[in-house]
Amino acid sequence: MRAVAEARTNIALVKYWGKRGASTLNLPAVGSLSLTLEGLSTRTEVRFDGALKSDELSLNGSATTGEPLVRIGKLLDLVRAQAGIREHALVSSANNFPTAAGLASSASGFAALALAATRAAGLKLEGRALSILARRGSGSAARSVFGGLVEMHRGVREDGEDSFAEPIASDWDLRLVVAVTAKGPKDTLSTDGMRRTAETSPYFKSWVESSEPDLKAARDAIARHDLEALGEVTERSCLTMHASAMAARPAVVYMRGVTLEGYRAIQDMRRGGLPAYFTCDAGPHIKGLTTSAHANEVAKRLAEVPGVLETRVCVPGAAAEIIGEESGTNRVSFRETVSSGMPEVIE
Ligand code: ADP
Ligand code: DP6
Repeated sequence: MRAVAEARTNIALVKYWGKRGASTLNLPAVGSLSLTLEGLSTRTEVRFDGALKSDELSLNGSATTGEPLVRIGKLLDLVRAQAGIREHALVSSANNFPTAAGLASSASGFAALALAATRAAGLKLEGRALSILARRGSGSAARSVFGGLVEMHRGVREDGEDSFAEPIASDWDLRLVVAVTAKGPKDTLSTDGMRRTAETSPYFKSWVESSEPDLKAARDAIARHDLEALGEVTERSCLTMHASAMAARPAVVYMRGVTLEGYRAIQDMRRGGLPAYFTCDAGPHIKGLTTSAHANEVAKRLAEVPGVLETRVCVPGAAAEIIGEESGTNRVSFRETVSSGMPEVIE
């Protein structure tokens, strides 16, 4: 009744922002399209134990209560219901990058949790069912179940069974340059920021309407390996999403001065013939989309932007995977534990 899983985070090129309906199923208002990233990952161990009186969470080495524990408890309840078990769980999870800081820890976190918890409970879900389960924890986590380029379907059903992610087959050598611009967690979690946007922003409806054409343009660009077309849609999806959030009342502002300087630097790169395209998430970090031939130069140029603390070139990442599991008499040795063997940590 124990399993360890690893999942990578992802960056949305066509963004998800807002929920549909009043349902508790965490259904997205829009579809989205992302790239899973190698090197920014979560490792999570889940152990169901009849001796525990409640679920317990160790996050990044510290016993954690409050919002993170409540959130994982809801996902564990779904797993217990599916598996027909009642035991509480000890969850030990570590992100090798800052948590709740705009680098999508909820994506890798809930993909790793969904995989580890189902396996520890004796369930073996196929990709689509795992994606639907991960979505209940966090919308972006539905995408981190898969590697490479991934499309998340909005779906129309009230039960959410058509709201899942799927990988897009592609051998494109895309790269994502992450420029970290701040330390510490953000003020407004994504869930809260998108709720406020949906409830109060006069631009929310326009944002939702912009999504389908953007998804189509992104799919077409990927099929053609057309970086300019994919880059254009990546920038406009990001900026339209942020515009809708900034118009919320009170405003939801994730960008800082350095984020906009990064955007300008990327525009300058393009004017000089270096193909790079800007995006950012619910946080101040700058992300540059490019291809392998240009990634190091884009990283060098972003590192020169005043206020950038660190840059990292990410290659497309693998799907979520089981690192080890153990149940009853069937023991499989653990390759590594949660606390050891994590890739290099970004502070
Ligand atoms: P981020 O930009 O990092 O994704 P979000 O606001 O989307 O920020 O999500 C942050 C929340 O995700 C945390 O407050 C916590 O509830 C959850 N989370 C982050 N890392 C993990 C993890 N490894 N396991 C479980 N939940 C996690
Ligand atoms: C800006 O997936 O964190 O990163 O479903 O409420 O957990 P919840 O939201 P979350 O939102 C991600 C927002 C985003 C864009 C994206 O990843 O598509």
